[in-house]
Amino acid sequence: MPTALITGGSSGLGAEFARQLAASGHDLILTARDEARLAAIAVELRDCYRARVAIVPADLATVGGCEVIAARLRQGGAASVDLLVNNAGIGFGTPATRNSIHQELELLQVNAAAKAHLTLAALPVMRARGSGAIINVSSVAALAPAWTDSGYGAAEAHVLAFTEALAYSRAVRGSGVRLMALCPGAVKTGFNARAGIADSLTPEWRWITAQAVVRCALRDLRRGRTVSIPSARYKFLAFLLKHLPHRMAPLYARDFGDLPRAGQQAQPSPAP
Ligand SMILES: NC(=O)c1ccc[n+]([C@@H]2O[C@H](COP(=O)([O-])OP(=O)(O)OC[C@H]3O[C@@H](n4cnc5c(N)ncnc54)[C@H](OP(=O)(O)O)[C@@H]3O)[C@@H](O)[C@H]2O)c1
Repeated sequence: MPTALITGGSSGLGAEFARQLAASGHDLILTARDEARLAAIAVELRDCYRARVAIVPADLATVGGCEVIAARLRQGGAASVDLLVNNAGIGFGTPATRNSIHQELELLQVNAAAKAHLTLAALPVMRARGSGAIINVSSVAALAPAWTDSGYGAAEAHVLAFTEALAYSRAVRGSGVRLMALCPGAVKTGFNARAGIADSLTPEWRWITAQAVVRCALRDLRRGRTVSIPSARYKFLAFLLKHLPHRMAPLYARDFGDLPRAGQQAQPSPAP
């Protein structure tokens, strides 16, 4: 049985990766901070799919926590991990200029540095074996500076650029290892509630389901894509953002400072 290790496997996209990979016969290693929630999803996966599931609690906001997972990824032979899904991430509804520096550094660590850490830990074993795959979960927010006063897009841009830089490198090309960045748009998960962002801010047509995102990601990985952008509407948005002159960015940029908190009424968008 192939083995997949999923960070942030207790909720949202990570839990959905776990379900779809369990359904396709993977053994799973799930990690996040909350051990009780990890245990609950492990029970669900064993009951529904008869999957073999191990849970490893770790805080990816610390280098020590990353090393716990990195050590697991460095194991070779029968214990080797075939697919790493670098998915754990956080966001803040409050603007970067009002957050503490500690909060902003935590976001950079969890959303960007931890993914680089685990990618670099997994790659040597996968390259030596001549097989393996890494999905680094980024966001459409990585594609342009559309959300100002937030470090989120910048952290996601690091994930996208780092994944592409490695995927096209001599070290990875032809090694049998596949790297792919996943850039979803708005997905209803626990993300907004944790970030303190009201779901009502996002028009209904912009939501995509976690099921559709993960289905598309796994299909794009099989097809050898380096960047996966689920759904036609977000592919179109990505096309526009890529081809609009960069000097237009301030016109479509949206200030995170304007976001209503969860439980408040959404205000009309201040920017087109
Ligand atoms: N939802 C969206 O609209 C959306 C759109 C684009 C991209 N994304 C990206 O998708 C990924 C998954 O987000 P989601 O929407 O599924 O959010 P979610 O439902 O809030 O899940 C986040 C997961 O990350 C884990 N996590 C958070 N901080 C952690 C830490 N310090 N150490 C270890 N694990 C941590 C959480 O578990 P614990 O709290 O127990 O640690 C949870 O399992 C993120 O990288 C996010 O940036 C989301």
